[in-house]
Formats: sequence, structure tokens, C-alpha cells
Amino acid sequence: MEKNQIVEVEIVDLSHEGQGIAKVDGRVFFVDNALPGEVIRMRVLKVNKKIGYGKVEDWLQVSPHRNQETNLTYLRTGIADLGHLNYGQQLLFKQGQVKQNLKKIAGLDHVAVAPTLAADSPLAYRNKAAVPVRRVQGQLESGFFRKNSHDLISIEDFYIQEKEIDALILATRNLLRRLDLKPYDEKEGTGLIRNILVRRAHYTGQMMLVLVTTRPKVFRIEVLIEQLTKEFPNLVSILQNINDQKINAILGKEFRLLYGKETIVDQMLGNEFEISAQSFYQVNTPMAEKLYQVAMDMAQLKADDIAIDAYSGIGTIGLSLAKQVEHVYGVEVIPKAVEDSQKNAQRNHIDNVTYVCDQAETAMQNWVEQGIQPTVIFVDPPRKGLTPSFIESSAQVQPDRIVYISCNSATMARDVKHYEELGYKLKEVQPVDLFPMTHHVECVSLLVKA
Ligand code: SAH
Ligand code: NI
Repeated sequence: MEKNQIVEVEIVDLSHEGQGIAKVDGRVFFVDNALPGEVIRMRVLKVNKKIGYGKVEDWLQVSPHRNQETNLTYLRTGIADLGHLNYGQQLLFKQGQVKQNLKKIAGLDHVAVAPTLAADSPLAYRNKAAVPVRRVQGQLESGFFRKNSHDLISIEDFYIQEKEIDALILATRNLLRRLDLKPYDEKEGTGLIRNILVRRAHYTGQMMLVLVTTRPKVFRIEVLIEQLTKEFPNLVSILQNINDQKINAILGKEFRLLYGKETIVDQMLGNEFEISAQSFYQVNTPMAEKLYQVAMDMAQLKADDIAIDAYSGIGTIGLSLAKQVEHVYGVEVIPKAVEDSQKNAQRNHIDNVTYVCDQAETAMQNWVEQGIQPTVIFVDPPRKGLTPSFIESSAQVQPDRIVYISCNSATMARDVKHYEELGYKLKEVQPVDLFPMTHHVECVSLLVKA
């Protein structure tokens, strides 16, 4: 096997990231835009001893599950890596991923993984966008980076974002052009405008715009503000973020308020939530409500429960369930998010909650030392999952139930295994589709004391 060779192969599986998998010559090949069941002529792009990468030259047999909508296939190269697979199959893929991880990583296959809860609308669902701004063929453009690259593909319709967000991005782009503001140039380290960030509160429609720039001074920024707020009455917050570093991280440390408020307000499960630019907020609001509902139902909450909301963000989980329990203790590491959660408690007249700013593992240990006896623990960690020390101190207080909300079923499986070793049993697993058209899977698991 060598580079540029062309071989006929059958695709037998999909990788975690949605690439087609073919097995040739004892090697596993990863092929973009190829689906299980498809027979292709594959050009070899790269090979080493065990794995290789290939590209579709042409299809000899096309999967009946292929989504033929060209635009979604196109988005596959950037923001929607499963756009070329039809929606029903995406849901099966996600259920399969969770099953596979539990079996391979945790050695667990006695618990049935429920069918993925489908999204009501698999398009135009994202309430947030972070769009790079670059110069393409002499013109300022916004769009997305092609996978594994920093090549900007300019687009105006993002398909998976709420339409009002696309409209605000487009209007901002046009004004940036008109004001002749210079887009950032990564190679040269020159230029001014790096990114446009938009957040839209799904139920109230309030919007926040963050302009990420390399320097504080933006000539005639007041024109941009005046025009945009005139055109978009729901645009209630405009911020500037300054990022002068040659790094991939979108945001720098410094925020400046340019117009209106520092937060927007949305609703979830009957409560109102203030959201700061720095705070985490699930990108699919209606499906996040379903996710939280699944988590609360699994927990079978009781009036005398003491609950922990670990990795609490702006308090969405703890505040949604506070009325059903005696007390909620929450912990979150981002100071702004903790402030939001405290304000959100007041805003909704919820007074049986205590939110602290700390590392979850430290807070967990402190609660143990203070003699707090949680009966139910909710965890919702980032992709890397929990730390062994968090798992140990949370198991030490012996809650009856642990509800694990995860955006990465591989680390969830690892952590579930650890909890099983400490005397907990996995009882239920429910994937929920918060991210249609992408390979990302959210799921909720219930562990109970054995
Ligand atoms: N439960 C919230 C947030 C979930 S996202 C919601 O549903 O909206 C995970 C959160 O964990 C983020 O807000 C992140 O800032 C926070 N986080 C990351 N590492 C942490 C740590 N070590 N301790 C506490 N919080 C952490
Ligand atoms: Ni992934």
C-alpha cells in the first residue's frame, strides 16, 4: 500500500468522529464522507503500519442512509460532521457509541442503553455561534474553518444555527466591510477583527454580540453599534473581547461592555436565567430542558433530599429541581457563572440553594468535612469527565443516587466503572440529542448504591 494508490473498499463502520472505516491489508483506514455499506474507490492519502487515511474517488455503491442534501454534506467539512447521514441513523449511531464505550471501557453490557431521544428540530437549533473572520480573496468574510485547518470557508446560512443568529452575523459582517475594518491575519499576526460571537436566548429572543479584536481601539465602532441595535431591537448586549495572543483560543481575558447589559435572559423549565458571555449555557435550549427533565426523573426526587449540583454553570440544573428538594449545594469554577447562578436563584425566588466558586473536587471534600449528607448527586462535567478524587469523596458520603450527565460517553464509562468499584450500580442510560448533524452525544446515567 502506498500513497495515491487507488483501491476498491467497502466501508464497514463509522468512527467516533463520523469518518468511514475500511479494513484493507490488515490496516484500518479512515475515510471522510463515506458511510457504512458504501463501496468506494479510495485514494490512499497516508499510510503507516496500522492505520491509514483515504479519500473517496468515486462511489460504486451509495448508502440508502446518505442524506443527499448537498448543503449538509458540505457542512460536514466543518461544523456538522454527520450532516451526510440521515437523521434516524444519526440517532442510532449515537446510541451505539454510548453502548460501545460502556462495554469497551467499563466492561458493562447488562444495562440497556435507551434509544437516543430525538431533537424536535434537527436544524436551526444552535443558540450560540462563534464565527471566525478572515480575509478571503481580498474580502472580509465570515464562515467556518475547514476541519483540521484554519482555512476559512465563507458561508451565510449556517443551517444548524437559529436563523436570527445568521442574520446578525451577516449584518455585522457587512458593517465591518463598510467600515473597512481589517480582518485578523493569523500568519502575519496583523489585522483587528478575529471573531464574531453571538448568543441568543431561545425563548426571549434577546441577543448578545461579542466582537473579538486584537486591540482595544476600533475606529468608528459607534457606527456599528448604532446600526446593529437599530436593525435588531432584540440585541440587548454588545461586548468587546480583546485577544492579542497568537493562540487558537477564541477569547482573551479582557471584556469591555460596549452597549446595553452584560447578560441576556432566557427561560428554562419555567425559571428565568441570566447568562454572561463567559458562562457555559447549553447550545440547544429545548433539548437541554429535556435532558434536565430526564435527569430529574431518573433521580426520583423527594422533598427531604439534599442534592448536589456539581459543575453547575449558571445553576440551570440545581435551580430547576430546587423546589422538589430540601436543599441544593452547587459548585462551579468560573466566577462569572457562579455569580449568574446566585443572581438566578434570587431572580426566581429560590432560597434553598448554596452555590460556591471552587474546583468541584475541593468543594466536594469540604462538604464531606462539614458533615453535609447529600442523598442525591448530579454531576455535569466537561469532556474530560470527573477526577478520581471527586469520585472517591462523592462516594464516601454514600448518596443513594448519582445522576451523571455527560457530553463524552468515553470518560463517563471510565467514571462509571470507578463508581461501580466503589459500590454503585449503573441502572439506566439515556442518550439525548442536543447536537443534531454532529457526532456529539449527550447522555444521562443513573447510578444507585448497591
Ligand atoms: N450544568 C451546567 C454546566 C455544565 S458544563 C449546565 O447544564 O449548563 C460544565 C461546567 O463545569 C462549566 O460551567 C465549567 O466551567 C465547569 N467546570 C469545569 N471544570 C470544573 C471543575 N474542576 N470544578 C468545577 N466546575 C468546573
Ligand atoms: Ni468527539
